Amino acid sequence: MTKVAIIGAGPCGLSMLRSFEQAEKEGEKIPEIVCFEKQEDWGGLWNYSWRTGSDQYGDPVPNSMYRYLWSNGPKECLEFADYSFDEHFGKPIPSFPPREVLYDYIIGRVNKGNLKKKIKFNTRVVNTKFKDEKFEISYQDKVNNKILKDNFDFVVVSTGHFSVPFIPEYKGMKSFPGRIMHSHDFRDAEEFRDKNVIVLGSSYSAEDVALQCNKYGAKSVTIGYRHNPMGFKWPKGMKEVHYLDRLEGKKAIFKDGTKQEADVIILCTGYLHHFPFLEENLQLKTGNRLYPPKLYKGIVWQDNQKLLYLGMQDQFHTFNMFDCQAWYARDVIMNKIKIPNNKEIESDINKWVTMEEKLENPDQMIDFQTEYTKELHEMSNYPKIDFELIRKHFKEWEHHKVEDIMTYRNKSFSSPVTGSVAPIHHTPWASAMDDSLKTFLDK
Ligand SMILES: Cc1cc2nc3c(=O)[nH]c(=O)nc-3n(C[C@H](O)[C@H](O)[C@H](O)COP(=O)(O)OP(=O)(O)OC[C@H]3O[C@@H](n4cnc5c(N)ncnc54)[C@H](O)[C@@H]3O)c2cc1C
Ligand SMILES: NC(=O)c1ccc[n+]([C@@H]2O[C@H](COP(=O)([O-])OP(=O)(O)OC[C@H]3O[C@@H](n4cnc5c(N)ncnc54)[C@H](OP(=O)(O)O)[C@@H]3O)[C@@H](O)[C@H]2O)c1
Repeated sequence: MTKVAIIGAGPCGLSMLRSFEQAEKEGEKIPEIVCFEKQEDWGGLWNYSWRTGSDQYGDPVPNSMYRYLWSNGPKECLEFADYSFDEHFGKPIPSFPPREVLYDYIIGRVNKGNLKKKIKFNTRVVNTKFKDEKFEISYQDKVNNKILKDNFDFVVVSTGHFSVPFIPEYKGMKSFPGRIMHSHDFRDAEEFRDKNVIVLGSSYSAEDVALQCNKYGAKSVTIGYRHNPMGFKWPKGMKEVHYLDRLEGKKAIFKDGTKQEADVIILCTGYLHHFPFLEENLQLKTGNRLYPPKLYKGIVWQDNQKLLYLGMQDQFHTFNMFDCQAWYARDVIMNKIKIPNNKEIESDINKWVTMEEKLENPDQMIDFQTEYTKELHEMSNYPKIDFELIRKHFKEWEHHKVEDIMTYRNKSFSSPVTGSVAPIHHTPWASAMDDSLKTFLDK
C-alpha cells in the first residue's frame, strides 16, 4: 500500500488530510497516511503560543502570531469551499475576524472527521533521505526524546515558511541600551505602552506590528523601510522614514536624516524558507515570492516528483489556495493526475516564474495568484467557489487600505461560497481592544 508522510499539521497539512478524507468518503481507497506535527496540537501558526525562543523540549517555537492579531485580509477571500463561515458559526459574521475566531473556523472543519488519529503530535521530523525509491524519515518523539525511523513513498512538506526569522544586524545594535527583537517573538502590544518603538521593514508584519503598538498606547512609532515605503496615511504618533543607518546609544539615525529616540527595535524583516529536516537535494531554496522556482504547479519538486510542497508561496490567497494545492497533490499521489515529461515541467515552471518577475503592483500580483489558484482548482474536484469574486474583493481591500489604513478592517464583503454578506462589526477595529471570540461574536 502506498504510504504518505505529511510534515506539519498547520492549515496546509490539514488541507492535505481533508483532501484524502473527501476521497475516502467518495468511496476511493486512499493511501496510508502519517502526519508529523512538532507542536502538541494542530492549527500551525493559528495555534497561538505564549512561548518564544524554545519550548519545554528545547525545540524552537514555530509560532509567530500575537495576541491581538486580526485577519489582515477579508475572511471571504480565504473561505473553504467545502465548509463555509455560515456553516461553522451558524450565522454570517464580520469580514475581519481576530486570530481566535479564525482558529476556531480552521479547527471546526477538521474536528468533524477522524483526522486527529492520523497525526503524531509532539513529533518533529529531523531528517528525510531518498534512497531505494523510498523516503526514509527520522523523527523525534519529543516527549520521550527518542529518534525513530519509517519509510514512505511520498512526502508532503507543509511546514510553513513564517517560523524562522530573518534577523539582520544594524550598526550600533551591540551597544543599544533598549530591547531588540524580531516580529516572530512579538506577542502583546501592551508591553510597548509609552515606549518609543522603531519598526524595521515594509511588509505586512511591519504594517500590523506598528499599528498594534500605536493602538495599544506606544509613545511613538517610527517605521524604517528599506526599498519602498508602504505609504499609508499613518495615524497620529506614527511616521515612516527611509532605512535605519545606525544606532547611537538610544538614538536611531535614519538615512534620510531623521533622528528618533528609541526604547525598542522590532525587526519586521521577514522569514527564511528553512528545511533542515530534508537532505540538501530535496530542499527548496527560495525567498518569499509568489512563484518559488523548481516547483511544478507550485507544488511538485522538479527533481523528485514524489516530494510535494504546499503553501510555499508568498500569500494573498491562503486557505482555499492551500486546499486547491492539497486536492491537486492528492490526485498526483493517487495517480489521477499525470505529471508530464521533464521538458514540459521545465517550460511550465519557467512560464510562471517569468510572468511573476514582470509583476509591478499589488493588483497584478493579485491577478497572478488568482490565475494560479484557478488553474489548480480546475484540475481537481475541489468544490465550486467564486474566485472571480475573491479577485474583486482583494482589489477592493487593497484600495480600502490606501484610503485609510485605520478603517479597512471595518468593511464588509460577500461570501464566494454562500453569497451571504458580512455584517459590519459592532466595534470599529481601532477601538476594539478585546479580541476574544466571545466579544467578537457578541451582538
Ligand atoms: C504573523 C502572521 C500573521 C498571519 N496572518 C494571516 C492572516 O491574517 N490571514 C491569512 O490568511 N494568513 C495569515 N498568515 C499566513 C500564514 O502563512 C497562513 O495563514 C498559514 O498559517 C500557513 O499554513 P501552513 O500550514 O503553511 O504553515 P504553518 O501555519 O506555519 O504550519 C506549519 C506546521 O508545521 C509544523 N512543523 C514545522 N516543522 C516541522 C517538523 N520538522 N516536524 C513536524 N512538524 C513541523 C509546525 O509546528 C506547524 O504546526 C499569517 C502569517 C504570520 C506569520
Ligand atoms: N493578520 C495580520 O495582520 C498579519 C500581520 C503580520 C503578518 N502577517 C502575515 O505574515 C506573513 C509574513 O509577513 P512579513 O511582513 O513578516 O514578511 P514579508 O512579507 O516577507 O516581508 C519582509 C519584509 O522585510 C523587509 N526586510 C528584509 N530585510 C530587511 C532589512 N535588512 N532591513 C529592512 N527591511 C528588511 C523587506 O523589505 P524589502 O521590501 O525592502 O525587501 C520586507 O518588507 C505574510 O503572509 C503576512 O500576511 C499577517
